[in-house]
Amino acid sequence: MPRRPAQDTYTAVDAFVEATLFAAPDEALDAALAATTAAGMPEIQVSTPQARLLEILCRTVNARRILEFGTLGGYSTIAMARTLPPDGLLTTLEFDADHAEVAWDNIERAGLADMVDLRVGAALETLPLLASEGAGNFDFVFIDADKANTPAYFAWALDHTRPGGLVMADNVIRGGSIIDPEGDEGAAAQRVFHEYLAEEERVTATTIQTVGSKGYDGFTLAFVNE
Ligand code: SAH
Ligand code: DHB
Ligand code: MG
Repeated sequence: MPRRPAQDTYTAVDAFVEATLFAAPDEALDAALAATTAAGMPEIQVSTPQARLLEILCRTVNARRILEFGTLGGYSTIAMARTLPPDGLLTTLEFDADHAEVAWDNIERAGLADMVDLRVGAALETLPLLASEGAGNFDFVFIDADKANTPAYFAWALDHTRPGGLVMADNVIRGGSIIDPEGDEGAAAQRVFHEYLAEEERVTATTIQTVGSKGYDGFTLAFVNE
């Protein structure tokens, strides 16, 4: 066993997990990934095991209302929206109209068009509109858009998530840059995010470092106190 495993090992272990736990084809996710890659979009969607974690968390909180920041090709969107009951709704926010177009095709192909509300625009501009429409009472929120705005997205999410719900933020570690952001605005924002979380009494939060096919990163998971 390697004592100091590196990226090749992380990738190989994810490949092992995919070949075992995820050996069965998953038509909707496989097709979404293929279409996203074919469109030349960045391959930064959650990994297959991470998508399963999102599914498990949504099921754990019996999610009926889900909010996502950052749709890309709809990979994580599909993983979460599939857990919804018939009257459920996932709202997903995407800045890039080209990404949104590919995502919407993928969501439709997955048979989830009725469960997903995809809003194109900068999330910070869409949020006031959602608020004016009475959006809220979310059970699960996944923050995975532009990293510099993670603290702002979290603050809004917390105000609109029910007690007992969960808010998850992806990419908070980014190769360890959180401890030394230098000129990286996204990394600096993760420090601000943690300093803010430390003072926020409405949540019980932790940050877990991860390795895998997407490198060394991590996520923050916050439980909204009841
Ligand atoms: N959640 C997706 C990956 C999202 S990648 C998955 O795991 O499948 C990040 C996405 O956030 C990109 O598509 C990018 O265009 C989008 N994004 C960037 N800035 C944004 C903003 N200000 N508002 C909303 N989305 C934004
Ligand atoms: C990037 C964004 C992500 O959401 C992610 O999980 C990995 C990388 C990026 O913008 O590079
Ligand atoms: Mg991410």
